[in-house]
Amino acid sequence: MSSTERSQGIFRKSEQVIPGGVNSPVRAFRSVDGVPRVINRAEGAYIWDVDGKRYLDFCCSWGPLILGHADPDVMQAIREQTTRGISYGAPTEVEYELASFIVNHVECIEKIRFVSSGTEAVMSAIRAARGFTGRDLVVKYDGCYHGHCDHLLVSAGSGLATFGQPSSDGVPGRMTADTAVLPLDDESALSAFFADHGDRVAAVIIEGIPANDGLLVQRHEYVRMLRALTETHGALLILDEVITGFRVGMGGAAEYYGIVPDLVTYGKIIGGGMPVGAFGGRADVMDVLSPLGGVYQAGTLSGNPVAMTAGLTTLQKLADGSVHAALEKRNRQFVTRLMNHLDRSAVNVVGVGSIFWIVFQRSLPRAAAQIDPDGIAHFNRMHERVLQSGIYLPPSGYEVCFLSTAHDESALDAAADTMGKIISEEAHAWV
Ligand SMILES: Cc1ncc(COP(=O)(O)O)c(C=O)c1O
Repeated sequence: MSSTERSQGIFRKSEQVIPGGVNSPVRAFRSVDGVPRVINRAEGAYIWDVDGKRYLDFCCSWGPLILGHADPDVMQAIREQTTRGISYGAPTEVEYELASFIVNHVECIEKIRFVSSGTEAVMSAIRAARGFTGRDLVVKYDGCYHGHCDHLLVSAGSGLATFGQPSSDGVPGRMTADTAVLPLDDESALSAFFADHGDRVAAVIIEGIPANDGLLVQRHEYVRMLRALTETHGALLILDEVITGFRVGMGGAAEYYGIVPDLVTYGKIIGGGMPVGAFGGRADVMDVLSPLGGVYQAGTLSGNPVAMTAGLTTLQKLADGSVHAALEKRNRQFVTRLMNHLDRSAVNVVGVGSIFWIVFQRSLPRAAAQIDPDGIAHFNRMHERVLQSGIYLPPSGYEVCFLSTAHDESALDAAADTMGKIISEEAHAWV
């Protein structure tokens, strides 16, 4: 067993001064009941912890690093920008370049505004949708995560569509009273809801490809029905592409499903590893924002030039689509090789684009209620063994894994064989 002594020492000290020792809860490894590794270096497909152990990284900073860690072009662009200062709080050419690059490459984006996180992007998009429609009601899906703004921290009840139960302490009930929750993959719940409430809905928000509660790939027909119903009722469709944007192609999940949403939210890849979010879409909707319109939205570090530079350099490297095609092929090969080690009646691996998810159940879920909690417990139990073998998976069975261009075929083949062996041994041990 490799040592985790230094990681444990630093983490214990962090727990004294940072709640739970972390700045985002899942990093604490509570679900997997493990020792969080304290990381101090990263390059390409690998990260190193403070005890000197190297890991093949399938977390990729939770998705942004599609080019791998410390991509030389991104690093060079950041270095060059920092010689000219790191924040001005004034318009810059690079923010125009990134905005126009996105407008030119993504069909549904006519105007875009940058913020500093995915949460902020979602919060701002919803405010814009409410301002534009003059309606209050927002619909989200059970199993989709959109960041931690108050009115979206809602738990699903037992009915088909439910209203307003906060899922976090500290969120007053009245903050979520105008949020309804629908189940994914359920046409009848959707049409019944719109029949009853459609004309009060400001916006429906859905993750491009839901990837925060496992990977719940939606049927194209379902998403197209959602697009049609929102349009008929004058409600806006917000596609949350914080994960899928520039991950499953330049056009994200909108292109994948063949739909045109009214608004899109971005995060992760759009900042090339720096803290950036964005929301954009129809010009008439975006023009409700201050200083043009009456919807207030602002940010001290929004459009930060270092972050804009990192994002632009990353997106330019993805622009011709060849990177996405190559990554998708590599992911398919990896998933197939891994699956060949596994007993499909007990374990499955779902892949889409360069995302994969390991799920310990026979049938692939499309909705949160179809996920077997026992299967998640299996994942959590095998996590430490995989980590010990030098492979870093996100520390929760509900989280998805990401490939980057730095994950080469030989590393992936070796990882598929190692993981396949561990997962099947563990799966047998639990039967
Ligand atoms: C789909 C989706 N939307 C929004 C967010 C929130 O983004 P951030 O963590 O940058 O605030 C996330 C974060 O993982 C996400 O996956």
